[in-house]
This record gives sequence, structure tokens and C-alpha cells, in this order.
Amino acid sequence: MLHVKRLSDLAASGQLKGKRVFIRADLNVPQDEAGNITEDTRIRASIPAIQMCLDGGAAVMVTSHLGRPSEGVFKAEDSLAPIAHRIAEILNRKVPLISNWVDGGFELAPGDLVLLENCRVNVGEKKNADELAKKMAALCDVYVNDAFGTAHRAEATTHGIARFAKVACAGPLMAAELDALSRALAEPRRPLVAIVAGSKVSTKLTILKSLAEKVDELIVGGGIANTFLLAKGFNIGKSLAEPDLVNEAKEIIALMEKRGARVPIPEDVVVANELSPLARANRVPVDEVAPDDMILDVGPKTAAQLSMMLAHAGTIVWNGPLGVFEIDQFGGGTKMIAAAIAHSPAFSIAGGGDTLAAIAKYGIENQVDYISTGGGAFLEFLEGKTLPAFAVLAERAKE
Ligand code: 3PG
Repeated sequence: MLHVKRLSDLAASGQLKGKRVFIRADLNVPQDEAGNITEDTRIRASIPAIQMCLDGGAAVMVTSHLGRPSEGVFKAEDSLAPIAHRIAEILNRKVPLISNWVDGGFELAPGDLVLLENCRVNVGEKKNADELAKKMAALCDVYVNDAFGTAHRAEATTHGIARFAKVACAGPLMAAELDALSRALAEPRRPLVAIVAGSKVSTKLTILKSLAEKVDELIVGGGIANTFLLAKGFNIGKSLAEPDLVNEAKEIIALMEKRGARVPIPEDVVVANELSPLARANRVPVDEVAPDDMILDVGPKTAAQLSMMLAHAGTIVWNGPLGVFEIDQFGGGTKMIAAAIAHSPAFSIAGGGDTLAAIAKYGIENQVDYISTGGGAFLEFLEGKTLPAFAVLAERAKE
């Protein structure tokens, strides 16, 4: 596992007292058209780092990106104002929002907390410009990266500043993500079962290949599973699939078999001839899919087999629902594996937007051991990549 300096260690040894701390958080939360925050998990997940610094007697600056604004042009909709408001509510204190902060010039005393406006508006942020990174590093004594959701980006607030700051460390959220993902992938309790589902093999090909070298069972779902069914010679009717990736699917199956591992192929599936809440769903054996059918979920026999596998797993990594779970008649497979994960003694981690929506729909938030706040970052970690934000902190930890 990567070794990085941790904020919790600095706090425990009293090294934050009187220090100016710069926290890069990921406060990129969904908003409605009026700018109201519709889901605040990332904000709540960022509070422990802020609290740790305040409790340690530091003067605290926090920044984040919100959306993908153009650099150098500030628009009202890019503002972190709703986020400052939400943090103020949670902490029950004032949280001033500072604009044009790169060159400093704002007051900050120990015990103060300010939010620095959307860091992606600063020229040079996305290109990780040294000049910008140096200016930001000069604002603080300690740089804390707690933005796991942005750990796959090498930008000035996630990478450059970490090179130039006097001290650079990981916040508690970053550290928790690193620990959970490393525990699941680097030193897993076996059997290690991964569930990778989604509409396309192409977007998850690197993940599938990387996991095929590590996991004991690779459960595929959604359009990805249909491509694997094609690779196994089944008719899939009008189901979503990528016929040009059949050879890749065959290679993954062969790689797994060579290691004595498996890609379980569904025994039965749920089909319909339209994708609609009014569609009539039929359960059929996998070798009886008609030319007009679309496979929209796994069948109950398959779901029961997969559940058994999950019940006996040592570690479970979950990314992607098995079927079109947003429509109830195609949600049976996802519902059953959600219940199996919830009851399995395995160490379980989950991540990705659709997966989080399925976890919320089936109410198992408290029964998954770790739910990642990362979307793209979670996927790149599964791909086996060293994320730039971790790489630079690990580099600094060698000093
Ligand atoms: C996310 O929402 O996945 C992160 O905040 C990263 O956002 P980005 O894809 O715009 O870099």
C-alpha cells in the first residue's frame, strides 16, 4: 500500500496549532436548476478534516471545484456559495466565502474557517501550472488533500500544490478511501468477488482486465454481461451489447480460467421487447432468448446463485447494477445481490453513481462496509492505476 503522511498523525502530535492549513476537498455536489444542493454526501464526508484542523488550533482554508467552469471567467452558477451555506449549517458557524484568493490578502487567524471560491476558475488549475501551484502553496503551512473524488486528476490544487507546500498530507477521507480500496484489492480476504456492470464493455475494459488478474469470481452485468453471453455463443436477441468486443470478452474468460477463477454466466435472464415501465417482463432460460427480446436483468435462479457466491465471499467489490433496476420489473437481480452483500460477512466496498443509487433504492447504506465518494477516481483505482493525488503525497512522504 502507498505510504502517505496523514492529517490525523499531525493532529495527534499537536502539529496543527497556529498553522495555516489549506484543505482541497471535493465538494462537487449535484444541484438543481435553482442551485440548491440535491445530495450532500461529499460535503458531509469533508467535515471531519475541517473539524480535525479546527480542533487542532489551525486557521483553515478549504477549496474545491464545482462543475467544469472555464478558467479565468467567474460565473454566478460556478460559485461555492450554496456549499459555504451548507457547511455553515452543519458546523453551526459562519463560513465566509473568499473570491480572488490566489494572491492572499485575506485575514485568517487560528480557529477561523473560510471557503475559497471554485478553484477551477483559476487560470492554470487544470494544466497543473507551477506558477499557480506555488502561489497556493505559499498561502499555507500545511496542505491537506481530502478530495478523493478528484484524486485521478493532476491539477494545481490536487497535485502541483502538494509538490511545493511545506507539508503535504492526506485528509481522513482520502486516507479512508486509500485504506478501504487497498484492503479490498491489494490484500483481500478471499474469495475476492467483483461485480462489474454497466452498459458497455468498452468503458470498463481496463477494469475488467485488471480485475481478471486478481479476483476469484468476476460477476458481469448489464450490457457487459450480454457481450460475454455473445462470447459464449448465446443468442441475445436485440439486447444491448458490443459485438466487436467479443474477442476481448473471450480473452478475459480465458485469463480467468487459466488462473482457476470464473466469470459466472447467467442460467436465466429477464427479457422484454421494450424498455419501459409498462413492459411485460418474462423470465427465460439463457438459451431461450427470442430474436425480439432484450435482456434487461438476470433471472431469479442466477440471482440466487450469485447471492450464494456473495454469501461465501471474503471480499466484495461492487461497481454497477446487474439490470435496469430503475424499472422495478428489471430490478430483481440487483435487489437480490444488494441483499446478499448486505448480509454477507465479506468486507464489501461499492462505488460509482448508479451503484450508489441502487444502494439507496434498496436501503443497504449501513450494511456496505465502505461506500466510496469517488466516481471516476474509484473506477481508475479499480483499473489498477496509481492516482496522481496519491502519487504526489507518497513522493512527499519519502522526505
Ligand atoms: C466527480 O464528480 O467525479 C469529481 O468531482 C471529479 O469531477 P471532474 O470529472 O469534473 O474532474
